[in-house]
Amino acid sequence: MSASAHVPVLLHPAVDALAIDSRPDGTFVDATFGRGGHTRLILERLGPSGRLFAIDRDPDAFAAATQVKDPRLTPAHARFSELRATLDGLHAGEADGVLFDLGVSTPQLEDPRRGFAFRSDGPLDMRMDTTRGTGAAQWLERADEAEIREVIRNYGEERFAKQIAKAIVAARRRGPIRRTAELAAVVATAVRTREPGQNPATRTFQAIRIHVNQELEELSLALPQALAVLRVRGRLAVISFHSLEDRIVKNFMRAQARPSLPERLPVRARDLPPPRLRIVGAPQRPRPAEIAANPRARSAVLRVAEKVA
Ligand SMILES: C[S@@+](CC[C@H](N)C(=O)[O-])C[C@H]1O[C@@H](n2cnc3c(N)ncnc32)[C@H](O)[C@@H]1O
Repeated sequence: MSASAHVPVLLHPAVDALAIDSRPDGTFVDATFGRGGHTRLILERLGPSGRLFAIDRDPDAFAAATQVKDPRLTPAHARFSELRATLDGLHAGEADGVLFDLGVSTPQLEDPRRGFAFRSDGPLDMRMDTTRGTGAAQWLERADEAEIREVIRNYGEERFAKQIAKAIVAARRRGPIRRTAELAAVVATAVRTREPGQNPATRTFQAIRIHVNQELEELSLALPQALAVLRVRGRLAVISFHSLEDRIVKNFMRAQARPSLPERLPVRARDLPPPRLRIVGAPQRPRPAEIAANPRARSAVLRVAEKVA
């Protein structure tokens, strides 16, 4: 296997959750194609007239999807915050299952040219979609210290966010930070206690990546669209890798499974809007053997829900 192959996480549990066997000729959506690990297993289970739409915002991932020669597969280069319009544009109709496998892929993380990696030097970019948006270097050049601190603190859960933001602002007075190795070196000066086995820049790089790609906003915009495109009994399956992502997924599924109105409104329980989702099973985490074989699986959580109305 090449260094940049992507090993899918929770492959079987996530694809099982889509319940393809009960509607093999249905319409499914892989909202995060990556390198197609989940897509391939979905295609294996799909019947001859089933359809799969595979979305990714990364042009390299999209290019990889176009290499899969299967007439049932339609790739799309789009953000999943545009899920509904993308599927409408492809005349996909209602979906029987939508899968999200969030975060970044191994090819993104390991290709130094993409700027996600702190271990190898490259341009400080970190955009998943290199065709639009602002890269990490540009953002670090313009953001003020407080914004940098909040991003690193909130998305990286980094104790030394204040010191790191200060160090970044001091460093950029000497010249712009344009390379991943430069940023990693600046961060290392500000992180005083190292977590075992973790590079001091890990949390900062993760935080900046989440910010540059607006990952939490994307997810918050995508979930209601996934619900809208599903048909009744359709399945929503989401694998998240970050506690903030998982919280968004959990809160969305719970709110749709148990609609509530503000307290003290004179509304009887039977007049509440009907639930739109039913939560299927408990959240699933990878088994120790999967984590041992693929450390990226460490923080993964799969949540599944079924549309009921
Ligand atoms: C963890 S990887 C998916 C791996 C895939 N399941 C596989 O087995 O190969 C996540 C992928 O989602 C894509 N992605 C992340 N956020 C996205 C968004 N908002 N819209 C579209 N694609 C997104 C990334 O570009 C990346 O390729």
